[in-house]
Amino acid sequence: MNFKKVSEIRKIFLNYFQEKGHTVVPSSSLLPAGDPTLLFTTAGMVQFKPLFTGAVELPYTRATSAQKCLRTTDLENVGKTERHCTFFEMLGNFSFGDYFKEEAIEFALDCSVNRLGFPIEKIWITVFENDDEAEKIWLSKGIPKERITRLGKKDNFWGPAGDSGACGPCSELYLDRGPEKGLPDCGVKYECRPGCDCDRFLEFWNIVFNQFNQDTEGNLHPLKQTGIDTGSGLERVALLLQGVDSVYDTDELREIISEVEKISGKTYEGSTKVPFRVITDHIRSALFTVSDGIFPDRTGRGYVIRRLIRRAVLFARKLDLKEPFLYKLVKPVATIYKERYPDLEKHISSVERTLLAEEELFLKTLEIGLEKIEALVLKTKLEGSDIFSGKDSFLLYGTYGFPAEMTEEIVAEHGLSFDKNGFEEELEKDRQSSRETWKANKVSLFTGIKTDKTEFLGYDALEAESEISFIFADNKQVPSLKEGEAGVLVFKSSPFYPEGGGQVGDTGFIRKGSSVFKVLDTQKENDIILHIGSVLSGSFSEGDKARLEVEKERREKLRFHHSGTHLLNGALRSLLGNHVLQKGSIVSPDYLRFDFSHPSPLSIEEIRNIESWVNESIVRHIPVQTEVLAIEDAKKTGAVAAFDEKYGDKVRVLKMGDRSLEFCGGTHVVNTGDIGYFFIKKESSPGAGNRRIEAVAGPVVIETFLNRFAELTEAVQNLNLKIKEELGAEGTSLSIKTNVPGPDEVRALFASKGADAVVTFRDLSERLSLELEETQSKFLKEKKNRESRDFENNPEVLNQVLSEAKSIGTTKIVSYIFDSKDAKALKGLSDNLKVREKEIVAILASKNAEDASIVVTCSPSIAGKKVHCGDLVKAACEILGGKGGGKPDMAQGGGKEVSKIQEAVQLAFDKAYAGLNGGLSK
Ligand code: ALA
Repeated sequence: MNFKKVSEIRKIFLNYFQEKGHTVVPSSSLLPAGDPTLLFTTAGMVQFKPLFTGAVELPYTRATSAQKCLRTTDLENVGKTERHCTFFEMLGNFSFGDYFKEEAIEFALDCSVNRLGFPIEKIWITVFENDDEAEKIWLSKGIPKERITRLGKKDNFWGPAGDSGACGPCSELYLDRGPEKGLPDCGVKYECRPGCDCDRFLEFWNIVFNQFNQDTEGNLHPLKQTGIDTGSGLERVALLLQGVDSVYDTDELREIISEVEKISGKTYEGSTKVPFRVITDHIRSALFTVSDGIFPDRTGRGYVIRRLIRRAVLFARKLDLKEPFLYKLVKPVATIYKERYPDLEKHISSVERTLLAEEELFLKTLEIGLEKIEALVLKTKLEGSDIFSGKDSFLLYGTYGFPAEMTEEIVAEHGLSFDKNGFEEELEKDRQSSRETWKANKVSLFTGIKTDKTEFLGYDALEAESEISFIFADNKQVPSLKEGEAGVLVFKSSPFYPEGGGQVGDTGFIRKGSSVFKVLDTQKENDIILHIGSVLSGSFSEGDKARLEVEKERREKLRFHHSGTHLLNGALRSLLGNHVLQKGSIVSPDYLRFDFSHPSPLSIEEIRNIESWVNESIVRHIPVQTEVLAIEDAKKTGAVAAFDEKYGDKVRVLKMGDRSLEFCGGTHVVNTGDIGYFFIKKESSPGAGNRRIEAVAGPVVIETFLNRFAELTEAVQNLNLKIKEELGAEGTSLSIKTNVPGPDEVRALFASKGADAVVTFRDLSERLSLELEETQSKFLKEKKNRESRDFENNPEVLNQVLSEAKSIGTTKIVSYIFDSKDAKALKGLSDNLKVREKEIVAILASKNAEDASIVVTCSPSIAGKKVHCGDLVKAACEILGGKGGGKPDMAQGGGKEVSKIQEAVQLAFDKAYAGLNGGLSK
């Protein structure tokens, strides 16, 4: 084979198919257009999905492309193996109702042999189990029958990408790299062929014969027109043509590794290769995703990118890279790819900036975080536990920015497992307590200083002019504040709402000419409004006139959440009873939290009714009225007063028709209809016979669902990919078909249905979470079943066991101890041994983590005559400190004394041996 560079391979491929009448189509974005069920573009066919199903008019019937792809299901393996990548390029040729099997096969062989230069005598083929037609075509092209293997659905049925679309049986081309690349035993015990897990045969081209359109329920319908979808991994083809063992040793990836060598001053050969590979892969993924507009973020697609970047930064420590460095790789890596992806060039500086910011953010805490993780691992082990606690992983997440998945990977290296549920619980707890801690740390600034009270203008205005009456810094009055200094400004009047009645203080800006003061928080003492913050530019002095501007969007959210809180209080009193008293309340831009007295947890139905009651009040568009009354008069109205508030001589009473009447100084909507929507996120107890409801209102409801569905999309997609990978096409019936609504769909339904959309999306997200959970456990069960099936039917295992058998006349006797196999698997294996051997006694045992199990069987001809399996198991189990027994021809049992398994098996063996020699002793 002639060495070919990656760029040559790509050109050869695309030129070949262009000659054969294919339109060369540029790679599409890594962000799949119009397919919310797919997180990233994972194959060449993704951009052609509508062309295969005939959903659109065809611009061409033959196409070829080199597509950038991203797959992150095996992220934790990347760097540690020779071939795993998250980012890769896929070469493909596609036919939409044009040519089918005959030509697709002809093209694949012709291009591989005559253009790429693969020796035909080393090419092996797989076809789908019943595809006689494909096999006949391969034979006619000169591939001998002994090099064609038939494989089942798991290996030779592809698609669809996402939750629905074109799919079909496939046929793959493999290159035989010689028996020396196989596993040590492979090819000796049984004939190795494609489909075997060893490294001898490497697949480099997959032809999918698209015949079906799979609907979202998993049903297959014949396509209106058949099609061809092929995929040939560019990195893999390069590995083969360049005669190297790892994709990371192919020319372009090696070039990136050289850049990492330059930056780190370490050499790839001779050091551990893992960090070089991790960085090389992740910088490609980061470069291509960010330039496609997918930015690191807290949720969804962006979170995947954040994880990749942080993982690269983490592994870089092994090369002593402790400063931001990824951003420096952007230019050199983009240079390698800019000819193929001309758009990259214009994104270089934005990608650099994004990566630098992301690296800086993470590096700030990484060092101490890593020390901390080591200490926590040690502590866990000293406590005798092998589970890294949710509390500890939350500490790493909250304080040091370690994504939970990264912590999981690090602690796994230390042999610890990870408590995911515990982590989630801590996350929730933190959100609740953070505001309280903040409040407790509040400092009193006004001791001993007298001043006039500030007039509050913020019910009507969000902007106003006023004069600075005092300035404070470091707890004392000062004449002015300069650029960079932090302090408190007090004005004669202000539109800034100071924290009170549960509602958090406003933020915003104060300007005087070109001077700017950023208000980080607003508090109140003795009716004086304190604008707390720092001078961003210029300076501010006592007596200056300035313009005060409240951050509008944030205040809007506060209004929605405050009015939502009143309606919630109304709902609770009306539906649960007047014993409900407010015990505490937080109104923040992100959510509202309401604690109240009630003796028992609320049922799901009660929660739903409360939510509906509030949404109904919103839909009724009730005007919100306020009146300032003398406290005595206010009390006569019957308005609800908050339990722990102190009131002055005058109070403001806030009324929402017949739905709510409360004392309140907060800022509110003008009409309940303005709130739009209300959604209860959680019900719990803060302790002491009280209940707590957390909810969102207004546009935050939409954000909440967008985030929820983005997370669900990722979870569903990852689970489906795992299912597809582990169970192949047979897993299709298991995979989740329910459509997870994309952002546009969510926004559209809220726009058209308003508050009614809450019920739709709440039900859907609950259903999906449940489905995820159920599917996950079904999948694990099926995987386990399959593993035990694979185990019991594996000819290698059978041969291995039988190779240890002893013969007594015509009977064989064998014992074998496995690791971690359940009784079902042992029984399955012994059934197969009985089929293989005419007369046999099999004593199979397994050492498990907590116990040992044993299964003894024998052929019917000797059962009860020479051997009694039940008796053998009984005797063995006594040694194991457990119980067991059964019939003459089959028995099972086990016990906790795992260390005595050898002794127990030996006893059963000796007894059986004696029986075979002399018959059963009575
Ligand atoms: N779409 C097929 C694959 O990704 C060709 O293997």
